[in-house]
Amino acid sequence: MVFFRSRIMAAILGILACHCAQVGYAQSPNQVGYAQSPNIDLSKVPWMDVTLSPDQRADLVLKELTLDDKISLIHGQGQANDKPVTDLSVANGADGSVPGVPRLGIPMLQMAGSSYGVTTNALNGRYSTALPSDIALASTWDNASACRYGTLLGRELHAQGYNVSLGGGVNLARELRNGRTFEYQGEDPILAGILIGNRVRCEQEQHVISVLKHFALNDQETGRSENNSILNNRAFRETDLLAFEIGNSIARPGAIMCSYNAVNGDFACENKTLLSHILKEEWGFSGFVISAWGATHSVAKASSAGLDMEQPSEAFYGNPMKQAVLDGTVPLSELNEHVHRILRAEFASGIVDRGFPRSVPDLEAGYKTSREIAEKSIVLLKNEKNILPLNRANKQTIAVIGLHADTSMISGGGSAQVDPPGAAIHKWMEQVWYPTSPLDSITSKAGAKVSFISGTDSVAAAALAAKSEIAIVFAYQWTSEEMDLTSLTLPDHQDNLIERVAAANPNTIVVLETGTAVTMPWVDRVPGVVEVWYAGNKGADAVANMLFGEVNPSAKLPITFPISDNDLPPPGIVVPPAGDHSIYHPKGTPTFNIHYVAGLNVGYKWYDSQAIRVLFPFGFGLSYTTFKYSNLRLIQNGSLKAVFSVTNSGQRAGDEIAEVYVSLPDDAVEPPKRLVAWSRFGLAAGETKEVSIPIDSKFLSIFDDTVDKWKLLHGDYRFFVGGSSQDLPLKQTIKLPQ
Ligand code: GLC
Repeated sequence: MVFFRSRIMAAILGILACHCAQVGYAQSPNQVGYAQSPNIDLSKVPWMDVTLSPDQRADLVLKELTLDDKISLIHGQGQANDKPVTDLSVANGADGSVPGVPRLGIPMLQMAGSSYGVTTNALNGRYSTALPSDIALASTWDNASACRYGTLLGRELHAQGYNVSLGGGVNLARELRNGRTFEYQGEDPILAGILIGNRVRCEQEQHVISVLKHFALNDQETGRSENNSILNNRAFRETDLLAFEIGNSIARPGAIMCSYNAVNGDFACENKTLLSHILKEEWGFSGFVISAWGATHSVAKASSAGLDMEQPSEAFYGNPMKQAVLDGTVPLSELNEHVHRILRAEFASGIVDRGFPRSVPDLEAGYKTSREIAEKSIVLLKNEKNILPLNRANKQTIAVIGLHADTSMISGGGSAQVDPPGAAIHKWMEQVWYPTSPLDSITSKAGAKVSFISGTDSVAAAALAAKSEIAIVFAYQWTSEEMDLTSLTLPDHQDNLIERVAAANPNTIVVLETGTAVTMPWVDRVPGVVEVWYAGNKGADAVANMLFGEVNPSAKLPITFPISDNDLPPPGIVVPPAGDHSIYHPKGTPTFNIHYVAGLNVGYKWYDSQAIRVLFPFGFGLSYTTFKYSNLRLIQNGSLKAVFSVTNSGQRAGDEIAEVYVSLPDDAVEPPKRLVAWSRFGLAAGETKEVSIPIDSKFLSIFDDTVDKWKLLHGDYRFFVGGSSQDLPLKQTIKLPQ
């Protein structure tokens, strides 16, 4: 069952919440946005001394704040669409805002969605670059691309007057039908954590506060505001939490967004184990915890659990919090701690010192970045008979088939939705096709006639395919926040379309524009399959460059593609009992449980542990060249590294992603293997390279529940190296610890 949630209702409720509340300071007219300079002498106030630490500066400001100031800093003032959108000092048109303290030089916080671009909730976001979706970034396995992605987002946020980025999604793909899979970094915690860490690190270097989200176990959208996600502690630490732990340690994000759902009994935004014990105490997180929009459930419980800021409004952290502090239900020290963390993040990110001069986003640079990252993210899944790359000189006639393939490519929906130049302004839960035309891009490279048909009539499409030498079907699957897929089957009878086209033309190539995996009942009847994800606003050029061999594909899958929905791990999408499931009217307690019984067995670990055959394995992706692996040595010299050789055994230059997996000693009782390291590098035709990859001992460890610590067990560790999780020609067993 697919659940759609209405943001219109949310907006209405937001308006009510805002106008009913008696909290005058939230709308006080003397607030200034960062566009206006605060009326203080910055040279004289001690907290503007940049030689002091962010903590010291935050403490100095804290001493100057009244109770009302403090309260005003810990909650939002409604979403932009609850306000007159012309009033930029209030909301700048985006997801949320927090007033500053102008007399002290503390700027407003202006928050915009930025999953794969600055979102159109943003009034000024009309001209944002739409990057390839986050799962596409994960397919690059490339820290440099992740950094470039974050840098662009940071710049565009900054240019448009935002200082808080709400991107940074790193929920693990436990359930591939989750409608937000496209916003995340795949199914492996180490890959996901390292990539999101690098992305957010570089985003913050542009002087914005970035979040990691949604903390934690928000692994399906259905009933997300009322489900209780249940997972045993060890599995939690080694899977979903590990991705956040790594991301936090690399990026040191200014904020972490707690999720809608409950986790092992308590809602995430009032879950002391999660927010205080694990995140703040154990991981040393020094930023602030911000609620998902409408995910706050209480004052005292949330506050003592470690929620620092309520968004987007003030239902709990406005007047009720003030009263709670006045009557002692919430200690003042706790409020001070929330404010300290928020101010600290503002100083640490540089937003206090640097101000926010708006500028025009550099769209040309954005196009280039978007295309180049897309080129690194396209996964070549099947290439029989060397159907690819296409050769212009062969002057083959081509049929381009697929809905909107003459004009545009699909994008992912929800709060992540971007409106790049030329795209229509979208409404919530509406499919948005970006103006990047596969037909035009292919026509510009083809040596002969290119024809187009939408494919809504599969018989007509097959007839066109039969008359052409090559048929390229652009198939799509739309996904969004606030919904899950019922199935990984392509929608709208596209399997039937592909079957018919393939029957009419043996040279059929399927290009998949999807947010997660799809099943492919036709896979044996087509020689070419390419996964391009949601490819961003230069996607068509990237795809054409790859189809015609100007770009040699190099990406690898960050999720497993199963053969059938029936192969997916339990429990599947769990549906809540009937009732009012409005996200913005959260229940006091969760209404249903999701038992994540697959535990440690997320993604490939599930299929490995159950010996289930898959369609395309995790870590898999072809190139137009081939790579040979040899000579593995595990070298222990204080630290551990895997050293081996890779040869480009084909005819052209290409990038390879070499992957290192390990099987832990038997008494660890772990899934058969886990990814522990990888390296991405380029090789000229015929070139051999010795690759040396350091292996972090934490990634070889298990989480020992009895002592609540990571532990490296004694025993035999079997290492495997190769080009995919199911193609690992090199093996070596070593004893650890040394
Ligand atoms: C919801 C989404 C979150 C988003 C926020 C603001 O909480 O889950 O991802 O950043 O709304 O739009």
